[in-house]
Amino acid sequence: MTKATTHGGTGTNGGTGTTVLSVEHVAKRFGAVTALRDVNLRLRRGEVLGLIGDNGAGKSTLLKILCGFHRPDSGRIVLNGDEVTLKSVEHARSLGIDAVYQDLALVNELTVYHNMFLGREKVRPTRLLNNRAMRRVAAEHLRDMGVNIPSVDVEVAKLSGGQRQAIAVARSVYSDARILLLDEPLAAMGAKEGALILDLVRDLKRRGEVSIIIIAHNYAQVLEVCDRVNLLQHGEITFDKATSDTSLQELTDLVVAEYRAARGG
Ligand SMILES: Nc1ncnc2c1ncn2[C@@H]1O[C@H](COP(=O)(O)OP(=O)(O)O)[C@@H](O)[C@H]1O
Ligand SMILES: [Mg+2]
Repeated sequence: MTKATTHGGTGTNGGTGTTVLSVEHVAKRFGAVTALRDVNLRLRRGEVLGLIGDNGAGKSTLLKILCGFHRPDSGRIVLNGDEVTLKSVEHARSLGIDAVYQDLALVNELTVYHNMFLGREKVRPTRLLNNRAMRRVAAEHLRDMGVNIPSVDVEVAKLSGGQRQAIAVARSVYSDARILLLDEPLAAMGAKEGALILDLVRDLKRRGEVSIIIIAHNYAQVLEVCDRVNLLQHGEITFDKATSDTSLQELTDLVVAEYRAARGG
């Protein structure tokens, strides 16, 4: 990937101030549905950005654009100072952007360790899959993360929703991604697995190398783990604050206000 000049930005706690990714006037429609109208967003290096918004607000659509799955109808995506056209998920990955989808991209019929290396399999010089290496590394990573699964040899179809989610997150975290996009990684989680993912995000943040956008509905968790929070409403970002400058009350009030407005009250 090209290491271009970077745009400076005002620092928040967490990020270094350097903008790694910006979204400028992005719009996306699906037939008659306008999912995104005019989205402007900025992600700084080492920052954890929380993206919140009502169901159907367009959060997943935005992340799917940023990971190369959907093309925007209009607008620009600027990565490390250069405008990019993300042609596919593989292309975005090659540029250091990796995503964990809400609807997980795990292959049910494959083992845990094959899923961990999906799309970036380890091969021997003979081009045969290096199953032994993949099994060992997958087991190590999952153990480090505290992900509790019976064995890396089981098919993911046999695992719980929370275990599957943990594997999908672990897969992204142990990739070479510089930008991680997590779509509701806590949704299918039990309390223990949720705490584990939050710990992992905190670890990554401490290392400060990876920049993260995380979609979440639990505002207490957002305030705990994110540096900044953006609200997506009516296809636009209508709220952008450092988590240190907002509160559970303010975020809750915003959502209640939206609900009242929608009811015309
Ligand atoms: N592939 C698609 N085809 C048609 N409509 C879609 C598609 N993906 C999303 N939408 C619509 O776009 C809007 C935003 O959806 P989504 O981005 O999934 O919202 P969120 O993740 O915030 O709940 C919704 O009205 C949804 O029905
Ligand atoms: Mg969604």
